[in-house]
Amino acid sequence: MISKKMVKQMSEQMKNEFFSGYYYLSMAAWLEAKNLSGFANWFRVQAQEERDHAMKMMNYLVRVGAKVEFLAIEAPKVVFESPMDICKKTLEHEQLVTSLIYKLMDTAQEERDYKTIQFLQWYVDEQVEEEENASGLVERLKMAGSTEGGLLYVDNEMAARVYTPITAE
Ligand code: FEO
Repeated sequence: MISKKMVKQMSEQMKNEFFSGYYYLSMAAWLEAKNLSGFANWFRVQAQEERDHAMKMMNYLVRVGAKVEFLAIEAPKVVFESPMDICKKTLEHEQLVTSLIYKLMDTAQEERDYKTIQFLQWYVDEQVEEEENASGLVERLKMAGSTEGGLLYVDNEMAARVYTPITAE
């Protein structure tokens, strides 16, 4: 049976995933206002994926008979300095999320909750991709330099991102 401690921590993570989506939407809105619609598209898609991450966690908790806690989602930052600032903050945020997922895994391992360990492995793997995507953005922007042409080139690439729902548990 899943412990109360595990349920509490996972409920918090569910909230954190919703917060991530909220944070990325605030970035999308800022980028949209700067007419960087490709960047904005990328962050809108990212926000949809974060909602999926949150829902996957909720679905698991419901399935194992846990009482899910619905915590308040804090307001995200809404003012940014530049697209590079946004991309760097995205990488920092994803690194933070990885550390939170590892803490969940620590608890599951301490409690020998093998089912939850197996479930959380998906998030461990997903975070590799999340960090890779975010650092890829920072690197591409660095390569594009500070020219308007470079920025628009990357913006154009980011317009191609399409949302694909994850498989719900
Ligand atoms: Fe849900 Fe971007 O990690």
